[in-house]
Amino acid sequence: CGIVGYIGHRNATPIILNGLKRLEYRGYDSAGLAVLQDGRIEVRRDAGKLSKLAALVESQPLNGHVGIGHTRWATHGEPSARNAHPHVGSTGEVVVVHNGIVENFLELRADLEAEGVKFNSDTDTEVIVHLVERFLASGTSLEESVRQALRQLRGAHGIVVLSSREPDKIIAARIGNAGGVVVGVGEGEMFVASDIPAILEHTRQMIFLDSHQMAVVKADGVVVKTLSGQVVTPQVHHISWDPVAAEKGEYRHFMQKEIHEQVRSLTDTLAGRVDFDEGTIRLPQLNLTPELARRIQRIYITACGTAAHAGMVGKILIERIARIPVEVDIASEFRYRDPIIDADTVVLAISQSGETADTLAAMDESRRKGATLWAIVNAIGSQAMRIADGYIAMQAGPEIGVASTKAFTAPLVDLYMLAILLGDLRGTLPETERKRLVADLRLIPDLVSRCLDREAEVVQVAREMRYIRNILYLGRGINMPIAYEGALKLKEISYIHAEAYPAGEMKHGPIALIDRDMPVLAIAPKDPWYEKMISQIEQAKARGGSVIAVATEGDERLPALCDHIFWVPDAPWMLSPVVTVIPLQLFAYHIAALRGLDVDQPRNLAKSVTVE
Ligand code: G6P
Repeated sequence: CGIVGYIGHRNATPIILNGLKRLEYRGYDSAGLAVLQDGRIEVRRDAGKLSKLAALVESQPLNGHVGIGHTRWATHGEPSARNAHPHVGSTGEVVVVHNGIVENFLELRADLEAEGVKFNSDTDTEVIVHLVERFLASGTSLEESVRQALRQLRGAHGIVVLSSREPDKIIAARIGNAGGVVVGVGEGEMFVASDIPAILEHTRQMIFLDSHQMAVVKADGVVVKTLSGQVVTPQVHHISWDPVAAEKGEYRHFMQKEIHEQVRSLTDTLAGRVDFDEGTIRLPQLNLTPELARRIQRIYITACGTAAHAGMVGKILIERIARIPVEVDIASEFRYRDPIIDADTVVLAISQSGETADTLAAMDESRRKGATLWAIVNAIGSQAMRIADGYIAMQAGPEIGVASTKAFTAPLVDLYMLAILLGDLRGTLPETERKRLVADLRLIPDLVSRCLDREAEVVQVAREMRYIRNILYLGRGINMPIAYEGALKLKEISYIHAEAYPAGEMKHGPIALIDRDMPVLAIAPKDPWYEKMISQIEQAKARGGSVIAVATEGDERLPALCDHIFWVPDAPWMLSPVVTVIPLQLFAYHIAALRGLDVDQPRNLAKSVTVE
């Protein structure tokens, strides 16, 4: 799941352990590292948290200038020390860490076993190290052996290999979408990693491998080649993320810090893109020409999890402002549905990580069918950003908490700006209306800040409700997706069963669930669906359910109807989701924190899911 490697003049061990620590947020169940010490590969690995690995390294120290490490999220074989990475081959001369799944692992393993190879783990990864050894044994160089081995594998992979036979290099490769492979360029030292934050404290100069590329990384330089051996000139990106942004600081959890960072991330989201004097939007990296804007017949938004909920809001905005039909598809469904796509279709992927396997597969499928591909992505240099024809870079900064918060509100604003730009170019948005919509953007940071000021009120309700077992979230119109997002936040980190429904559908089923033990959370700000929400709240109340409402400050009807209120400031309705989601993020966070749960690394979840 997480990979870190080092080659240079310093001791690799602490650099790798720190790097892995910075990737902890991605979720993992075991960890390990291998260091070249006195010409021999030495491995330490164990199931469980990194603190266990650190204790192991403390009692059996490792010292050397080259090493690789890994945090694993089990796919083949239970989480245990023997299944943890790195995996060493039979000769003890080659060691591998790997993200992805070797799809033809059973066949490869049977072949190798028939040749007499003994396996030490249940993982698919172990076949890779034996394959490399097989080629090395016939006198092939390490680089060529890795290349040959990779050619035998089916599936998507990120791989890093080290060998005591050629101790001056690390080999890193990427095939398909099993997560990123980044090479960090230092002075007289080099780093490899699956993700930027792992190595950001050491360098900001980074090279991102494309699919079917391989990097031969030495202390003083890196050569990137395709898997067929062609040298490519890599682009070195400068990463402007602040490494301090990836520290918890005064907050108890990253999630809480990230919720509070939204004032800042939304200010950054507007910077350089909105001209408040002219009332215009600039999104240059989208490569949206007036010709393309007029030609678009249909937009599919494809994404997973929280990003898909942002897409649901985007659908309403784009349809309303730019009059283009928009469909939102969960990426894992979209790719297998044989969607109707032609050259006048835009497929817009939304992804915090830009590395979610399902989302990337949906993009690949759309590319094959001839769509224009756009992406809204947070991680600079990620695969989604690179394969898109145009992109909007979310300005959320590094998001560590597994439950996404600031990488939800940033794309909401990005989609609003995109809708305005499309509407303007297509002539569906009159100038005065455009100017008003653009002017409204200026309110956003302050509105979010005012929601955060009311955190203590949310804590009070969370304290009272922390033992609930079920809850129903209801919303309508542009706030219907916020019901889904609020429910997702709660289930992800507090493990409470939370179900979301479009409020108008309640009468067609879920109303049967409502009783004293099934509270209802209704998102009912003063938007065009307000009156409808009131009647739905009345129906829930009539069945004995207790109701919490998200309501606009000054609302005089809801306090009489509801048991609790999360107050939000009055916001223009098209931007109201950015505001109404804030108390729901805080509510989920505080319930989980009050229950003493591992908020930043909830059980069974990973920050970015690079397997299908
Ligand atoms: C995982 C995370 C979710 C996230 C989803 C999509 O499931 O736990 O929080 O929303 O992936 O991730 P992406 O990086 O594509 O936005």
